[in-house]
Amino acid sequence: MRVDVIGGGPAGLYFAILIKQSHPGTAVNVVERNRADDTFGFGIVLSDETLANLRRADETSYREIAANFAYWDDIYTHYRGRVLKSSGHGFSGIRRLTLLQILQRRAADLGVRVRYQTEDPGVAAHGEADLIVGVDGISSRVRETLAAHFKPTTETRSNRFVWLGAKTTLPGFTYSFRENEHGIWNLHAYMYTQGECTLVVETTDEAFKASGLGVEDEAATAAYVAKVFGEELNGAPVLTNRSFWRQFPVVRCAAWHHDNVVLLGDAAHTAHWSIGSGTKLALEDAIALHGAVTRHPRDPRAALEAYEGERRAEADRITHSANTSLVFFENVRRFWHMEPIQFNFALMSRSKQVTYENLRKRDATVIEDVDRWWARQVAEAERLRLPADFVAPPPMFSPLTLRGMTVMNRVVVSPMCQYCAEDGTPTDWHFVHYGSRAVGGAGLMFTEMTCVAPDARISPGCTGMYKPEHLAAWQRIVQFVHVHSDCRIGLQIGHSGRKGSTQLGWEEMDQPLAKGNWPIVAPSPLPYYPEVSQVPREMTRQDMDRVRDQHVAAARMGIECGFDMLELHMAHGYLLASFLSPITNRRRDEYGGSLENRLRFPLEVFDACRRIWPAAKPMSVRISATDWIPGGNTAEDAVEIARAFRALGCDLIDVSSGQTDPASRPVYGRMYQATFAEQIRNEVGIATMAVGAITTADQVNTLVASGRADLCALARPHLADPYFTLHAAAQYQAMGYALQGVAWPKQYWSGRDQLYTLERRAREEAEQKLGQVKPPKPDVAIAQRAA
Ligand SMILES: Cc1cc2nc3c(=O)[nH]c(=O)nc-3n(C[C@H](O)[C@H](O)[C@H](O)COP(=O)(O)OP(=O)(O)OC[C@H]3O[C@@H](n4cnc5c(N)ncnc54)[C@H](O)[C@@H]3O)c2cc1C
Ligand SMILES: Cc1cc2nc3c(=O)[nH]c(=O)nc-3n(C[C@H](O)[C@H](O)[C@H](O)COP(=O)(O)O)c2cc1C
Repeated sequence: MRVDVIGGGPAGLYFAILIKQSHPGTAVNVVERNRADDTFGFGIVLSDETLANLRRADETSYREIAANFAYWDDIYTHYRGRVLKSSGHGFSGIRRLTLLQILQRRAADLGVRVRYQTEDPGVAAHGEADLIVGVDGISSRVRETLAAHFKPTTETRSNRFVWLGAKTTLPGFTYSFRENEHGIWNLHAYMYTQGECTLVVETTDEAFKASGLGVEDEAATAAYVAKVFGEELNGAPVLTNRSFWRQFPVVRCAAWHHDNVVLLGDAAHTAHWSIGSGTKLALEDAIALHGAVTRHPRDPRAALEAYEGERRAEADRITHSANTSLVFFENVRRFWHMEPIQFNFALMSRSKQVTYENLRKRDATVIEDVDRWWARQVAEAERLRLPADFVAPPPMFSPLTLRGMTVMNRVVVSPMCQYCAEDGTPTDWHFVHYGSRAVGGAGLMFTEMTCVAPDARISPGCTGMYKPEHLAAWQRIVQFVHVHSDCRIGLQIGHSGRKGSTQLGWEEMDQPLAKGNWPIVAPSPLPYYPEVSQVPREMTRQDMDRVRDQHVAAARMGIECGFDMLELHMAHGYLLASFLSPITNRRRDEYGGSLENRLRFPLEVFDACRRIWPAAKPMSVRISATDWIPGGNTAEDAVEIARAFRALGCDLIDVSSGQTDPASRPVYGRMYQATFAEQIRNEVGIATMAVGAITTADQVNTLVASGRADLCALARPHLADPYFTLHAAAQYQAMGYALQGVAWPKQYWSGRDQLYTLERRAREEAEQKLGQVKPPKPDVAIAQRAA
């Protein structure tokens, strides 16, 4: 077999080593345009996890790598005059050149043929190879040559960054954020060997331009950075090595292999350097490809198919984290109002891979500080007195007051249609459904979208608020919730618009009814599914008056029922949402066109409801913060939308996204919409509720304490477990927390006591086990020798 590797960076060399080691008879050729000792940049970081993977893959090179790394556990964050330390992070730094030289030597020892200072002539010149590996980095020519098959896209991010060095000693990984007359400058610095550091400095494009620095002016850059971060760098001069100000390209490929050609590392996908995973990804790609080739020794095409099938999910996970992380650094200004403890926690949890509980495992004192800081903020906001020896609860179990309504914790049962109302009237199902969730411990619960008129319903099974029977049935539910729980209950009202007259949720959702359809209305006559959906009638001003008044009438009935809060549904492509979105609103009058015009009718409805809704009771609006469609609403529009509602007395924005149109292409992931809640909360200064793939108490604590949302709504988790909050409370109580902010019904106290005992025992057993089996650590002895 013959394997040709185009590019002798970390991934190319590592793959060549692995394949030559396991298949000594294979001819392995690497072509590399640089000299063996050429390198750009200074050091790279690798996590404990990556080192363990390298050890498993090739012990020989691992030992040499491990003997050369600087190992550190601590992160220091410099922010507004304070330095915060956190431990337990477990990272290693190594000079990039050292890493390459170790891999070059190992490749040579194994008999890999590496031709340095050789420009690759192109994929076509490798016709005799059985396998061609394109590992030619971020500007890959292999990828561009076969672009028709790999379908690459490159998104250039806005921040400017530069890779620099300094000869100084740092106590650990160092972040620093400094503001000057040009803007905010972020420093990421770490030692890769004793006394030598890599620095990456970044800032916004605006600040970079304001500074007057030239893209390639290395001397001016070094002087500028040395001035801004002189204190952190102990006055050491800043070193350059082709240190040009760049903008990070996020490279993605629809396919990584074609025929017998495969892309690896930066050529296939890039991961922003702020999670230090570019080299990790590249090396682990090499390990995965080697595994697939070993399993399909005679069939390279099958090996590539298997490789891509297995590797994509993991690579996507890491690149997604990297993309989430880079957004934090692009928007440091958004967090700039935060106090140091919260800022640091927001920084640590930026990629949402490191969470509240995850940080506790690394360094419990950080979480104790977060808890105490948080408790003090809440006490001040809620005018609570804290005893001197108070033990702060996890942030999830703290109260929040909106106008005259106080919720006892930050968990919310998200609105969820049950699709089983009878002529709009909630049934016994609804009574039990809402009743059991109310006693399940959440601080607040919303009703499903309750429709303001028969023709405003999504489906024949939707609840309504337009007939006396509706009022009586809802009243019974609200009364139960108030008498038997501490949960607050909000009414969500809405009009389905062009998504009305459709099937039940478990049938063909959003598709028209088989029979008995009713006429539907919308801002513009655009059917949801052009092939099958009804064409809605374009609303006249008279229709708008009617719909506004229907919302007001429903809100009045809500007052009579005793609801604690009112939410207007303006998300997911329903009527008011479709006024807001330019995808669904094509009107040419004063209700269409600019955002100001598109907001006009939704604001009018909100205002009319706010005028009759009691001043002591809060109101919220659910929005789709992005349409996930080019040309649709974006997060920036959502900020303006939130501002407009806040000005009319809206207390909370319930931040969802998408479902505007079948063309929506959401990027899912855990807590995937929280980033919009974060932006709106911190840019507009209004309380937000995050929703969407929030599934654990840990995530609720993370989002709340990091200032990304005030409340967290969970929908599907509450279908699976109405007692989500009570169960989370039991887990925290087993950890020794004394919790307020959660109330078990007295009828269930004996069950609560048993659950606490079981949780405590499970915890003790887990701790005992952990004590016996130590988690794998890298070869610290070797690392310390090097340092
Ligand atoms: C500022 C910055 C900081 C970073 N910090 C870290 C970090 O801390 N940790 C981390 O893991 N990663 C980090 N990275 C990312 C890391 O450098 C890359 O992700 C990693 O090097 C990718 O490895 P690769 O082998 O895929 O590509 P590369 O390292 O780019 O190697 C590709 C090789 O192919 C060669 N080549 C290209 N075209 C040709 C051709 N036509 N003919 C011959 N040879 C060719 C190039 O000379 C090069 O040697 C950082 C990146 C940047 C920009
Ligand atoms: C069965 C079901 C019904 C839903 N009905 C509504 C609704 O009536 N109003 C609304 O705003 N969102 C509704 N949603 C969306 C949820 O409130 C929530 O935004 C979404 O499910 C994402 O949260 P999750 O990941 O916690 O499930 C519904 C979701 C589900 C699963």
